[in-house]
Amino acid sequence: MIFFVPVVLILIFLCARYPARECSPDEQAILDSKPKYRLIILILSNPDNLERRDTIRKTWLADRGHDAMMRHFFVVGTQDILPEQRNTLQSEKEKFDDLLLLPRLQDSYGTLTKKVLYALKGIHERYNFDFLLKCDDDSYVLVHKILKELDRWQNKGTRRELYWGFFNGRAQVKRSGPWKEMDWILCDYYLPYALGGGYVLSYNLVKFIANNADILKLQNSEDISVGLWLAPLANIERKHDVRFDTEYRSRGCSNQYIITHKQTIQSMRSMYEYYQASGALCSKEVRNRMSYQYNWTAPPSQCCNRQSGIP
Ligand SMILES: *[C@@H]1O[C@H](CO)[C@@H](O)[C@H](O)[C@H]1NC(C)=O
Repeated sequence: MIFFVPVVLILIFLCARYPARECSPDEQAILDSKPKYRLIILILSNPDNLERRDTIRKTWLADRGHDAMMRHFFVVGTQDILPEQRNTLQSEKEKFDDLLLLPRLQDSYGTLTKKVLYALKGIHERYNFDFLLKCDDDSYVLVHKILKELDRWQNKGTRRELYWGFFNGRAQVKRSGPWKEMDWILCDYYLPYALGGGYVLSYNLVKFIANNADILKLQNSEDISVGLWLAPLANIERKHDVRFDTEYRSRGCSNQYIITHKQTIQSMRSMYEYYQASGALCSKEVRNRMSYQYNWTAPPSQCCNRQSGIP
């Protein structure tokens, strides 16, 4: 009894440390047995994008100062790939130890939502972490800024879950093209979601998705699906951030960006070089389309009015 009380107190303390994490001592023991990271980064890739992965390793992942705190994985579906693709992936995996291969996923546009779901499930099974960032292999991320912002967010003392990215609440349902959603019947618009070029989820949100993976409805687009899956949850902060340039087309280049999407191998290299030399992302700031602050008090159809002067 004398020993038991302090142990329980420690467990209670551990359980209270992170945003709204509720756990029984059993659950906590399982969690503590898993490798623990501040941030897991999932980068959706495909079997043939070796050069992109190498570029990311040598550019925005090259700053090894965060090693102990964060871990990244390139996510690749490997069902039905060619033997030579499999061999190449296997040696890449051995060399870098940063591939999350999904043997039951055929890698294609049509399976992106499953890919995200399987990846979240796999990560949740194997790791303990505070936050997870999902991005693509054409996203450029300033990891140290993400980590710093996460500290700042947590230091506010918030006990809420975090869903952080560039949100849209008035995206019209697509009925044609590669992103068509033929069985979206909930509303004229999609539910508010953070755009897929990069978004952050706190642990409990990943846990919720992983635990319910078998019964969730999968839409065609992964980011729309995540918005849908998280829609009914209480105690969640949807943090719209204009520094996430994560739409299907980049808004340009702003030195305020902490993620910028739709980058080529070449633009990643030059961004990295420029950042190393100057501490800024863009050699020249460029605005290709306007941005918006999200108005959460207006109805979603009026949430997102683009204006000039916003990054
Ligand atoms: C947000 O929407 C509400 C309701 O339509 C409006 O009254 C308010 O002025 C808007 N806020 C901003 C910052 O535009």
